[in-house]
Amino acid sequence: MAMNLIGGEWVPSSSGRTFENRNPADTDDLIGLFQQSNEADVKAAIAAAARAYEHWRLVPAPLRAEILFKAAQIIAARKEDLARDMTREMGKVLNETRGDVQEAIDMTFYMAGEGRRMFGQTVPSELRNKFAMSVRQPVGVASIITPWNFPMAIPSWKIIPALVCGNTVVFKPSSQTPLSALNFVNILIEAGVPKGVVNMVTGDAEVGTAMTADPAVRIVSFTGSTDVGRIVNQAAAPTFKKVHLEMGGKNVIMIMDDANLELAVDGCLWGGFGTTGQRCTAASRVVVHEKVYRQFADEFVARAKSLVVGDGLKPETQVGPSNSEAQLRTVMKYVKIGQEEGATLATGGHRLEKGAFAKGFFHEPTVFTDVAPAMRIAREEIFGPVVSVIPCKSLDEAIAIGNGVEYGLSASVYTQDINRAFQAMRDLYTGIFYVNAPTIGAEVHLPFGGTKNTGNGHREAGVAALDVFSEWKSIYIDFSGKLQRAQIDTEQI
Ligand code: UN1
Repeated sequence: MAMNLIGGEWVPSSSGRTFENRNPADTDDLIGLFQQSNEADVKAAIAAAARAYEHWRLVPAPLRAEILFKAAQIIAARKEDLARDMTREMGKVLNETRGDVQEAIDMTFYMAGEGRRMFGQTVPSELRNKFAMSVRQPVGVASIITPWNFPMAIPSWKIIPALVCGNTVVFKPSSQTPLSALNFVNILIEAGVPKGVVNMVTGDAEVGTAMTADPAVRIVSFTGSTDVGRIVNQAAAPTFKKVHLEMGGKNVIMIMDDANLELAVDGCLWGGFGTTGQRCTAASRVVVHEKVYRQFADEFVARAKSLVVGDGLKPETQVGPSNSEAQLRTVMKYVKIGQEEGATLATGGHRLEKGAFAKGFFHEPTVFTDVAPAMRIAREEIFGPVVSVIPCKSLDEAIAIGNGVEYGLSASVYTQDINRAFQAMRDLYTGIFYVNAPTIGAEVHLPFGGTKNTGNGHREAGVAALDVFSEWKSIYIDFSGKLQRAQIDTEQI
């Protein structure tokens, strides 16, 4: 049975309750029992993090980073085992869980490097014999709440920059993927993160609520649904916590009449069905110029039909199961909605439940064509293997459709025309944009996040993560030995 980590000790929840972690490809496969924690557990974890903060904030950042470098090396050495554990609890195919672990390695090395940078500004003072600069300061206790679709990458995006900046952490992973979280935290401890600096409390909404409302927490970083993000934001508002939110997406690939169609089909398959469509960056909408619409649709549908669905641990599998029964139900609900709305179900549309699929949450890769932008399947996040193909007459119309949803995470255009590419790049109101590539595949050293209902103005990854996990302090040192008044004592030159 897995425990919570509080103040450096592995302890059970005071609730006395646990929950099961099962394999979404085979629900007979019980992976383990984890703590169903309560508010008292969270209070204890926050108290431990607050105590540890007084020490950790004063450890020089390059030394904090030494521990993180070591952690990255351990993750790299165990990549294969970590990926296998992840596929077993999350479902995505092994190549993708290897990628997830790699993203955690990349982020940890990258952020550890910040231990020797973390640049501030040094600027001239307007007064003689006065020095002016700014430095980054840690924020305090950080509550970190992560989803199941990137079980190690996303925790690393948050926990590692939080640590390098000198914050201490209370971490609640998704109850769908607690093993990968446990593996990650174990490695941090093994690498030398001191007691209380990282605490992990598993469980559901009761844990999240306590983590977002407690006055001792100074920053909350959350990735998950827009509905839950709104609750997090509201819970954190009365105590004016810094809040970083990364939420839903309804990302678009735009295909122009001059596009390399073969490349575009490859991109749409990977963007739409990679991770079984369970990425916030998934390309769930494809807007295609009418001149190449039929050709694209025929080819895309044929290729989607040939994708191999199965257990992600099998080498031939291209599309794994949905992560949970609830997720599969959502997929099935939207397939029904799409049909009722009058879109053409071009392939897929059914749950797979016979033979090897009987014990898992499998669904056929599904493509709707002739989708109108106003339909719910073209506007709402589905988070599953369902792609909507929408015809358009021009780039301007494609851009209008692309921007016509509540989300703004990622978008892409396929074209050979540099003028069109630059126009699309400028006019899509999203946080991420690709040219001749799908909407997924962000790298760790650039900002990650989105506009509108996707985010609240912050970005994670890259240097932007430091802006989330640190506060600026501006410092003035007057070495003139007399009172100098800014804005008043101007001297003649
Ligand atoms: C997510 O979908 O929540 O850019 C994260 C990508 C990945 C991360 C996705 N590197 O698709």
